[in-house]
Amino acid sequence: MDTTILGRTGLKVSVAVLGAGGNSRLGLRRGGSKAEAIDLVRAALDRGVNFIDTAPAYGTEDVVGAGIEGRRDSVILATKARCTVQGSSYEGSEFVAPGDMRRSVEASLKALRTDHIDILQLHGVRPHQYEFCRGELLPELQRLRDEGKLRFLGVTEAFGVDPEHRMAQSAVADGVWDVLMLGCNFVNPSVARFVLPQATEKNLGVMAMYAVRGALARKETLNGLVAKLVAQGEVPADALDPEDPLGFLLENGVAGSLTEAAYRFCRHMPGISVVMTGTGSLAHLEENIAAINGTSLPAGVLDRLSAAFGKVTSATGDLE
Ligand SMILES: NC(=O)c1ccc[n+]([C@@H]2O[C@H](COP(=O)([O-])OP(=O)(O)OC[C@H]3O[C@@H](n4cnc5c(N)ncnc54)[C@H](OP(=O)(O)O)[C@@H]3O)[C@@H](O)[C@H]2O)c1
Repeated sequence: MDTTILGRTGLKVSVAVLGAGGNSRLGLRRGGSKAEAIDLVRAALDRGVNFIDTAPAYGTEDVVGAGIEGRRDSVILATKARCTVQGSSYEGSEFVAPGDMRRSVEASLKALRTDHIDILQLHGVRPHQYEFCRGELLPELQRLRDEGKLRFLGVTEAFGVDPEHRMAQSAVADGVWDVLMLGCNFVNPSVARFVLPQATEKNLGVMAMYAVRGALARKETLNGLVAKLVAQGEVPADALDPEDPLGFLLENGVAGSLTEAAYRFCRHMPGISVVMTGTGSLAHLEENIAAINGTSLPAGVLDRLSAAFGKVTSATGDLE
């Protein structure tokens, strides 16, 4: 397992991060048991992953807490707190009070069976919510950090509704966060233009999510997404073969699968520190760890991807 330093946190982390949320929630979302999810956490640690991301909203903090039992000292734990009140819309402006956020952190500590969280992130912050988060919630997070309950602070963007990274552009400019979690995949690499140069300048840790999301996990849905982007004029019609638009990723031994190519694409994007992988399957976890530890895609392939998707800002990779 390759390791890297997570920007200004100085934390030494595996380049592959186990995501306990997303479409799979360690398998819980498709009927897997908690025991199986705990085994998956242990399997990830056994394979060199030392960085795990969860959130109260995922319902997986207790599973992660059980999975790392006895190994807490060698794990970097990231979790989150909502900025809108429980039961209200993530899109809304019904914000939590700082005291609610403190209670959320205390509950996370308990579920994770630990006395400190390495990275606490505000979860899925929408552009219109950022000012409140920065002004009203950050001071409480800083107090929790001063008390030793949190080590570093971050925000995660809501890529599904903010694929142009508007919130992240404000967050990176502020310079008050240590870590950003950003949506990135080869279908929408706009993070490379809008956020990563500035994040690199400020030495922020950047966690890439959405490298493989629902629509990128299967060739048919991916081809459907590409056809839509061509029809919208976001991808030049002559940039890809309409019969097999991404076949060049699998030709001449470039990559063994589209998911492998997708993870390698994000892993080697300048400014990305680590890549998240969300799965409920041990076989997928092993494939994805290998992919994230793989080499960069060849320059010619990156050029073709850039010619096709370099201007895309609307796609996320979510299944529609
Ligand atoms: N705003 C936020 O804070 C936010 C938003 C999204 C995600 N996240 C974090 O990022 C993590 C990763 O999420 P993500 O958005 O990258 O992806 P994700 O939602 O976990 O989606 C990955 C999908 O691809 C499938 N998959 C994974 N590996 C595969 C493989 N090798 N072959 C075929 N299918 C495969 C998974 O299903 P299987 O279970 O079948 O493998 C899953 O359905 C989450 O767990 C969470 O920690 C944070």
